[in-house]
This record gives sequence, C-alpha cells and structure tokens, in this order.
Amino acid sequence: MKYKKLYDGADIPVLGQGTWGLGGGMAPDHSHDSTAIDAIRTAIELGYTHIDTAEMYGGGHTEELVGQAVSEYNREELFITSKIWKQTMDHQDVINALEGSLKRLGTDYLDLYLIHRPNRDIPIEETFRGLNALIEQGKVRYLGVSNFGLRQLKRAQTLCDTQIVTNQVRYHLHERKCVANGVLEYCQANNILLTAYSPIDRGYLLDDPTVKQIAARYDATPAQVALHWLISQPQVIALPMSTNRRHLEENLGALELELSESDIERLNRIELPESVLFPE
Ligand SMILES: NC(=O)c1ccc[n+]([C@@H]2O[C@H](COP(=O)([O-])OP(=O)(O)OC[C@H]3O[C@@H](n4cnc5c(N)ncnc54)[C@H](OP(=O)(O)O)[C@@H]3O)[C@@H](O)[C@H]2O)c1
Repeated sequence: MKYKKLYDGADIPVLGQGTWGLGGGMAPDHSHDSTAIDAIRTAIELGYTHIDTAEMYGGGHTEELVGQAVSEYNREELFITSKIWKQTMDHQDVINALEGSLKRLGTDYLDLYLIHRPNRDIPIEETFRGLNALIEQGKVRYLGVSNFGLRQLKRAQTLCDTQIVTNQVRYHLHERKCVANGVLEYCQANNILLTAYSPIDRGYLLDDPTVKQIAARYDATPAQVALHWLISQPQVIALPMSTNRRHLEENLGALELELSESDIERLNRIELPESVLFPE
C-alpha cells in the first residue's frame, strides 16, 4: 500500500475498500453475508486497511458485516470510516448515530466520521455541535464531509473545532464535477484530502477506448489506469469496491503504474461520453 498524509502528518492509505452494496442497498439483505465478510477479509489480507462504510448502507447491516469481518484483526492497524445519514443530524441525533455505528461495527472509536450528504433541513451548526463533542470524547479521530460543494465545505470548516480532513465526492475519468466547481483545487490548496468514490464508475469506465488504449501500452488494465489517474493527483485518494479477489489484486497494481506526462494529459482531456454530457 502507499499512503498520503492527513493534515497532522498521519498516514492514510491511497486506496481503500468500499462497502456500498454489501449487505443490501438501503435496506438489509442477509442473503450474501458470507460473501461480503469474505470480500472485506480478503481486502484486508491483501493490504487494504482503510474500510469505508456508512450507517445508511444496508440499513445498518453493512456496518454489522464490516464489524464481523474486522473482528479478527488488530483494530489499530485498520482505518475505519463511517458516515452519518441525512435524517440524523441534529446535535443529539449525531451522538446517537455514532453510538449505533460503533455498536454495529463492534469498535469503540471511528477513525473518520463524515456527514454523508448536506442536509438543508437541519442547521449544520447543530450537526457540528455533535461532531465536535465526539472528537472531544475521543470517540472519533477525524472529521470530514461528503458530497459537499465548495461553499458548503468552507462553511463546514468554520464550524469544525478540528480540521475537516476530507471531502468524499464522486470523481473519476468521466465525472469531473469537483474540478468544475473548484472543490478539488480548494482541497489541494488547503491540505484537505479529496476522497474519490466510484473511482471506476462502477465498472462503466472500463470500456472507454482511450483508457483501454493507454492501458494496453503499459501492459496494465483499464481499472489500474483509472485508479492511477486519480491517485497521482495531489491530495486525492480513492475508494474502489470489489468483492472479487482478482479485481482487488488488480486494483493494487495502480500503485505501481507510472504513466507518462503525455498519457496523463490525454486522460485529463478525455472525451466524455454522450451519456455523461447529455444524461437522460
Ligand atoms: N459518499 C458517498 O455518497 C458514496 C457514494 C457512492 C460510493 N461511495 C463509496 O465508494 C465505494 C466505491 O464506489 P462504488 O462501489 O460506487 O463504485 P466503483 O468502485 O467505481 O465500482 C465498483 C464495481 O466495480 C467492479 N470492479 C472493481 N474493480 C474492478 C476491476 N478491477 N475490474 C472490473 N470490475 C471491477 C466491482 O465488481 P466486483 O465486485 O465484481 O469486483 C463493482 O461492481 C463504495 O463502495 C462506497 O464505500 C460513497
């Protein structure tokens, strides 16, 4: 694994294992529990120590599966992120939500706790009152946000007693909103990590002709090229998700890839497919 630095100098892995879909969508689904637990354990065995989950995933069941999967590992060697969902964001809700996540995960602290999405219905001051208290109590090591625009991110910074360490947003070769809205540039200038989710666009990126062509030149795969493009950017880390050992291994190959400047430039200027430019 390779690492980038949090604002305080602590290491964070450049690739983490996502968990969306393991244990259900927004409601619990117990039908593939052992596959999900195996996938998380395989990821950890291969060197993915950052596990990203959320209270919303599988209606809480995903956190339970993560908890079962990590129970046989040394907690201090893992970096566990979870997220508070938008229904539960006033001060007391935040405290209660964290307790629920800790219980399901079978741990007494989170490495990173994110606001999953901005919620216009609840004053964000309330949410941060709860989050700041959790840092104070030592139940959460770091705070961050997810799906925040630039204005929302700046506002969050003013309310957070500690540093906002990351904004987790959708970012991949076919999705450049965080570039267009200035979020990436702001993160890079302010020592905030940008955590790219859906980094291979749930598999859709793998058929892109430019990505395929560049991958072939390096004897690499399209997934490796897509991931390398992200993590070669300052302050960017990525969260691919896979339940397949071969894919998990393959994705780690992105760490060793070295693309020429001209190929990176080609990827920077990749032609976005019509489905992205003109969504239905
Ligand atoms: N903050 C948010 O709002 C938010 C939103 C979405 C996602 N996320 C987080 O980000 C994580 C990743 O995003 P994602 O799951 O949407 O998308 P993703 O990582 O872009 O794609 C996952 C899909 O790609 C496949 N895959 C992975 N590696 C592959 C490879 N080398 N070759 C071929 N297929 C491969 C996986 O199938 P196999 O299992 O068969 O490998 C899976 O179906 C989530 O799990 C979640 O933790 C956060």
